[in-house]
Order: sequence, then C-alpha cells, then structure tokens
Amino acid sequence: MSNGNFSLSKEKINFLLLEGIHDRSQEYIRRAGYNSIDSHKAAPERADLEQLIAEAHFIGIRSRTRLDADMLARAERLNAIGCFCIGTDQVDLAEARRRGIPVFNAPYANTRSVAELVLGEVIMLMRGVPAKNMACHRGLWHKSAIGSHEVRGKVLGIVGYGHIGSQLGILAEGLGMKVVYHDILDKLPLGNAEAAAGLDDLLSRADLVSLHVPDTEQTRGMMDRIALARMRPGSHLINASRGKVVDIDALADALRNGHIAGAAIDVFPVEPSSAEEEFLSPLRGLDNVLLTPHIGGSTREAQENIAVEVAAKLVRYSDNGSTMGAVNFPEVSLPDHAGARRIMNIHRNEPGVLQAINGIISQAGVNIAAQYLQTMPDVGYVVMDVEAEDTPGLVAELDRISATIRTRYLY
Ligand code: NAI
Repeated sequence: MSNGNFSLSKEKINFLLLEGIHDRSQEYIRRAGYNSIDSHKAAPERADLEQLIAEAHFIGIRSRTRLDADMLARAERLNAIGCFCIGTDQVDLAEARRRGIPVFNAPYANTRSVAELVLGEVIMLMRGVPAKNMACHRGLWHKSAIGSHEVRGKVLGIVGYGHIGSQLGILAEGLGMKVVYHDILDKLPLGNAEAAAGLDDLLSRADLVSLHVPDTEQTRGMMDRIALARMRPGSHLINASRGKVVDIDALADALRNGHIAGAAIDVFPVEPSSAEEEFLSPLRGLDNVLLTPHIGGSTREAQENIAVEVAAKLVRYSDNGSTMGAVNFPEVSLPDHAGARRIMNIHRNEPGVLQAINGIISQAGVNIAAQYLQTMPDVGYVVMDVEAEDTPGLVAELDRISATIRTRYLY
C-alpha cells in the first residue's frame, strides 16, 4: 500500500508548528524557502489537531502533543515529525516508521546548560552554601570556614562521560579540579581527565561525585545504599541525570547522618507532572541539599539551539532526503545532488524489494549515479541519484511495488 508520493514545490509544502516553538525555527524554515508555516502557541485539542495534521507535510511539536497511531492515521500527507525537545515518548515511533515518517529531536542541544548548572553547584556544595543560605533566611549568622573548601585541586568524579559529563570535565579543569571519570564504554579522556578503574574506584577517590548516565536497567538504583557508603566521608553528590539512578531514601539517610556532606539534586524518581502538583521528596527540609525542579537543561539558549537543530533536520530531510539524527528510521547521510535527480523510496523490508526497484530502473535504461540504502528490520530506505528525464514516471512505477510505503523525488 502506498501512502501517496510527495514531490511538491516548496511553496506547496505545509509546516505545522505547535506549542509555541521558539521563533528561531520559523526563521530557519523561511530562510530555507518554505513560507507555508502555520504556527500555534498551544497544543491544540485532539479534534482540532486531527484537522490540522491532515494538511501538514511537516509537523513540529514539543512534549504535550500526542501523536499516537490513531492521530498518525489522519496524517496522510505527513513526511516527517520534529520533536522540539529531548524526549520522543509522545510519538508512536514504530507506527510513524511503518508509515514512512522519520521522527527527529534534539538530544544534545542543552548539554552546555546542564554542565554549567552542575559546575555552579560544585562550588556551592564545596562551600556549604545550601545550609548557610537556609540559616541566613532564618536569621542565623553561621560565619565560619569549617567544612568550606576551594574547588581547586579537589577531585571531581564524573559517572557517565558522554556529552554532558565530558563537557563538565573540561569546565571543571578550568577551575583547577582533578577529573576522574567512569563510563561503561572506553572513552578517550579530554584535557587531563583520567579514567577510574571502575565505579568503586571513582567513589573512593572523589570529593564530589556527579552523575551523567542515561536511565537504563543498569543505572537504575546505581547509587544505592552500598554505593553511597563507598563515597568518601564528607563528600558530595550531584544528580542532574535521571531520577531513578539514585536511591533517594538511602541518600536522605546518608545526608542526615553526615556521611555525605551535601547534595544537589535536579531529577527525582517521581516528579510532579504540573505546577499544580505538590513536589514530594524525602529530601525536602534537609538544609544541606540544593533542590531544583528538573531545570538542568532549561535555558533560553538551549531552547534556541533546539529550535534551530530540529528545524535544520526537517529542512534537510525535505531538501535532500537525509535522515541522520532520526530516532525511529534508517539513517542515511546524503551529499547534495547537484545536477542529478534524486528518488527516495521508503518500503517495507521484504525479500526482493531492492531487486524490484533496481529492475524498474534498469528496464527504463536509466543510469544510477549513486545509490544509498539503509534498513531496519521492518522498513528500508533507498535513495538513488539518477540521470533520467521522466522521473515522475519512474516514481509512479516504484510506487506500484506492493512493499512501497512512499516514494518521492527531488530535482
Ligand atoms: P550521553 O548519552 O551523551 O552520555 C551518557 C554516558 O553514560 C555515555 O557515555 C554512556 O556510555 C554512559 N553510560 C551508560 N550507562 C552507564 C553505566 N551503567 N555506567 C557508566 N556509564 C554509563 O548523554 P548526555 O547527553 O550526556 O546526558 C546524560 C544524562 O543527563 C541523561 O540521563 C539525560 O537524560 C540527562 N539530562 C538531564 C537534563 C536535565 O534537565 N537535568 C537535561 C539533559 C540531559
């Protein structure tokens, strides 16, 4: 079954942007030559969305718009989805793939924002600022150097040396800290950072431990009672990664009994779903803890980065067919196709499809200048740069292959 082919000129391509996506995205899309942009401040009601999505070739959403299988069934023209955020749980990714729709997001646009917040917390914790701040608010004057330290020369232990962890390491070295890290992958150290022999080694050496791992079966509960006990007496813990990585009750105990001197926690095992819901945590009321409401990545700059990164991915897919960075789709990175005509075929990954595609092309006596193919178990994506006069005719034939989901071409 074909979803219909899509080979429109730019003025006929509709972008639907929802949930007040930052203006920079519109600027980017317009500059790329697309002027049909319907932008909405809020997430539309379901019935309204059903109407809007039927006309859209590209849609940009944030976290409140649900694109489930029923909604995607209404999106007959839709070619790609941009999630202008980090998460993509709001989209039925497998169904989108089955319909030949790649989904893009911006997983690393807020890396710097998280690293900067953590760096600030490193200094605050080493000076005991959270408790001193609380005391001042209560009218107390705890003017003392006890338990206060410069960060220069201290050991920062980074667990998860990915985008955020490695950037934090560089910033911390700028303050004269010694950085040790632990990662399950062999990661090349940046600057003078040193790989620890393992998590236990890191915990036993660090004055401050900062967590930057994803939420996986392996990391859930990683900082449990035993791991917390392995941290140096009087050391500090920062978690701006995912809430379930730390056993929060065990942490509250370790903070109360002083084994851990202080903590800065931005993410929690259970978080309120809206501003109306009360934030409940065993860490509330502990003066030596800096609590923030999951704002590690929430800055104006990160929002701008997200707007441009996702808009660029949508435009690139429309202009050139590249799917690099798609979270649900075979990833193909394509050069420009100056002088050639590009045909893109998305198909169910069944035996014989490629043969059928190549058969049609060779029967037409058309020369293929370049061909790119990537597959996932259920879906394949093949891109061909061809020297053909009658590209629409070829596209129509490719569309007739029973496994074809969608074919389009570009000049
Ligand atoms: P990333 O994928 O670049 O890095 C994660 C690193 O952790 C990788 O190097 C990976 O190999 C490593 N890792 C995975 N399992 C591990 C294990 N069991 N032990 C040790 N290392 C392990 O991710 P990125 O962008 O650096 O993000 C890190 C975390 O920060 C993620 O959980 C992300 O959700 C969270 N985050 C939180 C934000 C906030 O607002 N607080 C904003 C952005 C990201």
